[in-house]
Amino acid sequence: MRSRASYMDRNNINHCAQIYLARLLLLLVMLFSATVLHTAEQSVEMVSDKAAANIESFDHFTTGFPLTGKHQFIDCASCHLYGQFKGTPLECGLCHNGSRAPGKHPQHFPSSNFCDNCHTDDSWTGARFDHLDIIEPCQSCHNNIIAEGKSASHILSTEACDDCHNTIVFDRVGKVDHDAVMGSCTSCHNGITAEGMPAQHIATTAECDTCHDTFTWRNVHFDHSNITAACSSCHNGSTATGKDAGHLVTSAECDTCHSTVTWQGATFDHSLAVGPCSSCHDGTTATGKTPTHFITTLECDNCHITTNWLQLIPFVHTTPDYPGDHLTARLCEDCHTSNNQTITWPYAAYRPECAGCHQDDYEADSHKGPGDVPLPIADVMDCSGSCHLKEGIQSGEHSTNSSEW
Ligand code: HEC
Ligand code: HEC
Ligand code: HEC
Ligand code: HEC
Ligand code: HEC
Ligand code: HEC
Ligand code: HEC
Ligand code: HEC
Ligand code: HEC
Ligand code: HEC
Ligand code: HEC
Ligand code: HEC
Ligand code: HEC
Repeated sequence: MRSRASYMDRNNINHCAQIYLARLLLLLVMLFSATVLHTAEQSVEMVSDKAAANIESFDHFTTGFPLTGKHQFIDCASCHLYGQFKGTPLECGLCHNGSRAPGKHPQHFPSSNFCDNCHTDDSWTGARFDHLDIIEPCQSCHNNIIAEGKSASHILSTEACDDCHNTIVFDRVGKVDHDAVMGSCTSCHNGITAEGMPAQHIATTAECDTCHDTFTWRNVHFDHSNITAACSSCHNGSTATGKDAGHLVTSAECDTCHSTVTWQGATFDHSLAVGPCSSCHDGTTATGKTPTHFITTLECDNCHITTNWLQLIPFVHTTPDYPGDHLTARLCEDCHTSNNQTITWPYAAYRPECAGCHQDDYEADSHKGPGDVPLPIADVMDCSGSCHLKEGIQSGEHSTNSSEW
């Protein structure tokens, strides 16, 4: 058995011998044609006798078309028709056009004449594919005949592959162009073919595009125009947005106070309100007291109605310490000087009597007891005289209803 190496050596020798013979033959042909055609085709430039003589040593590299690959092994005349050298086409496709030299087979996809963008002169098979060189839409090749096409499980799409694919890799898409998809959203967005509803998604059987667009799942909108169900059947915090933790306490239907356009700017019907005013009017759930508000522990509705904060209910004191309505002390602050429901008594010793506020108004000269002796204020601290009647002092002497003492 011949060794592989010796076979190859022989093969090589055979090869060289073939080339040598071929070239010798060609040289003869050339010499012949140079002689025969010399007179007939004067205008045609041909290799000179000198060149022909040197033809065997001719360095084809100098032509700018090196004979490499398979071209090394073919007759000079296969390319240099009629012994013509200068003006021989350089562009692959001008020879490989099916007449001058074998060209593309009929199933070859449309391509430019620059065969060497994809092929070498070694072989037509094993082409390197350069997409820069394509002149046809993707699908003219990517049809599973000429080149890899869509598989049976491919998403339903138009044939414009490059709406979603680049030319580098098929099995990863940067961005799916939804103008090029076919079928309903759910036909793909079922969690298998394409992303579906996440586990915690609101329960719905509606088509995705009822609420979603194709750009992002986060942009949710909803057309309420044909909705007949009660708002709260969806707006329960799981199917759709519900009341948040800080929402005012109510069991009424959402549309009693809300429109379907926005949750903000609700209108409020107090007849539906549950709980004391302050359970809502705490400055969080609903309007609360201003920072300068009169400091009081009483419920709002002791002073306020439900339709207007500035329209007050006349305040009725219930404390026994209240001296009674004054004709002159008209503002709350006249007595509630610290804006607090607890009074700062000017003369606390006489609280809760008139003198608790009016010590300064006391004129001892006008208040004389037995012996015409001026009375100590403690004896008459209730100016209206209802308690500490002294001799000479009339009951009901002073009244809060009077503008003077
Ligand atoms: C695969 C085709 C091919 C083969 C085979 C080939 N040539 Fe060429 N040859 C060319 C091309 C193409 C040119 C460049 C023509 C041009 O630039 O005008 C060229 C140019 C030449 C020129 C220079 C012409 C000039 O005046 O510029 C010579 C001489 C030549 N070839 C000789 C040969 C010889 C001898 C052989 C065989 C040993 C050979 N060629 C085989 C394609 C070929
Ligand atoms: C001047 C004409 C000419 C040019 C230009 C030319 N070829 Fe060729 N080529 C030939 C001829 C003639 C053959 C031999 C065809 C045959 O098998 O009969 C050949 C053979 C080949 C083969 C071998 C085919 C086989 O069946 O083994 C390949 C591959 C090839 N050429 C590729 C190219 C490429 C690529 C280019 C451009 C870089 C090119 N050729 C440019 C004329 C040309
Ligand atoms: C854009 C790239 C590209 C261009 C340009 C191109 N081809 Fe091709 N060609 C291919 C591809 C890819 C194949 C398939 C190769 C394979 O199956 O390995 C192919 C296959 C072929 C085949 C069949 C090979 C076989 O036996 O299976 C021939 C012949 C061929 N091309 C000739 C040409 C010729 C001639 C030109 C220039 C006129 C050309 N091609 C231009 C990419 C190209
Ligand atoms: C002229 C024919 C042709 C056109 C047009 C064409 N391709 Fe190709 N494409 C090929 C060939 C041939 C290959 C390599 C052989 C193969 O993979 O079947 C290829 C390979 C690819 C690959 C690599 C496949 C892989 O997994 O390796 C991608 C991706 C691709 N093409 C996308 C595109 C896109 C996108 C377009 C349109 C912008 C396009 N092609 C246009 C012929 C073409
Ligand atoms: C609307 C977008 C879109 C269009 C248009 C589109 N594809 Fe795809 N293609 C995809 C998506 C999505 C995948 C899956 C990729 C992934 O898993 O990331 C895919 C995967 C593929 C795959 C690999 C997996 C498989 O299914 O075989 C190939 C091959 C493919 N596409 C070819 C094509 C071809 C060829 C065309 C044009 C005829 C095309 N696609 C058009 C979106 C598209
Ligand atoms: C033919 C299949 C198909 C159809 C039909 C389809 N999509 Fe898609 N969609 C996809 C694929 C594939 C992706 C990207 C991969 C994924 O998200 O799983 C996608 C992505 C999305 C995204 C995410 C976009 C991003 O970049 O984050 C949204 C949103 C979307 N689709 C909404 C929709 C809506 C709404 C419809 C119906 C109007 C719809 N899709 C119809 C296949 C489809
Ligand atoms: C009735 C309206 C409605 C329908 C129909 C609907 N969704 Fe949603 N979807 C929502 C709401 C509301 C959210 C929550 C939005 C948020 O958290 O920003 C959401 C969220 C999502 C999210 C998560 C978004 C994220 O990143 O947090 C995905 C994914 C999603 N939906 C997919 C789908 C798919 C797929 C369909 C169709 C099969 C669908 N949805 C049908 C209303 C709907
Ligand atoms: C069939 C279910 C359903 C019913 C019934 C329903 N909605 Fe909605 N609504 C939604 C979905 C889904 C959204 C969008 C996602 C979200 O905000 O939770 C929405 C959104 C809203 C929005 C927010 C609008 C925006 O763009 O910010 C308001 C406000 C609203 N609904 C009010 C109502 C009111 C009021 C009713 C009763 C008249 C009602 N909805 C009935 C499902 C419903
Ligand atoms: C009795 C009246 C009333 C009812 C009934 C009511 N709300 Fe409200 N809601 C309000 C008021 C008032 C606000 C605060 C409005 C504002 O800040 O402009 C509010 C605020 C909201 C907000 C927050 C708005 C924001 O973003 O600041 C949501 C969400 C909301 N409500 C949902 C609901 C839902 C869901 C229902 C039914 C289940 C409902 N509401 C029932 C009165 C009501
Ligand atoms: C269940 C919650 C709730 C209760 C209880 C409640 N309110 Fe309200 N009230 C609201 C909401 C909500 C508004 C409208 C939004 C706002 O002003 O903060 C409102 C508005 C008002 C307004 C302003 C009306 C206007 O048109 O300017 C007044 C005044 C008022 N409430 C007084 C009261 C009084 C007094 C009580 C107790 C009798 C009371 N509210 C009980 C929730 C409540
Ligand atoms: C003891 C009586 C009293 C009580 C109780 C009371 N307020 Fe007032 N409130 C007043 C007075 C007095 C004013 C000042 C009216 C004016 O400026 O004309 C006022 C004014 C207001 C204003 C209007 C502020 C402005 O300038 O617009 C708001 C709001 C208000 N109160 C909220 C409340 C709330 C909420 C409660 C219960 C939590 C409450 N008030 C309890 C007496 C009271
Ligand atoms: C003539 C003096 C005087 C005037 C004017 C006056 N108060 Fe008083 N008020 C008192 C006294 C005294 C007390 C008991 C204070 C204490 O125990 O510290 C009191 C107590 C209160 C209390 C707590 C307990 C109660 O229900 O009686 C409130 C609330 C109150 N006043 C609100 C008002 C408001 C509002 C105004 C104006 C509309 C007003 N007062 C005007 C003297 C006055
Ligand atoms: C909590 C304090 C307070 C108490 C208690 C009080 N008053 Fe007054 N009184 C006032 C204030 C304030 C005025 C307004 C004039 C002023 O600032 O002195 C006033 C004015 C008067 C005036 C009018 C005097 C004038 O010059 O305009 C009379 C009369 C009067 N009080 C009688 C009484 C009587 C009688 C009692 C006991 C039953 C009484 N007051 C208890 C605070 C009080």
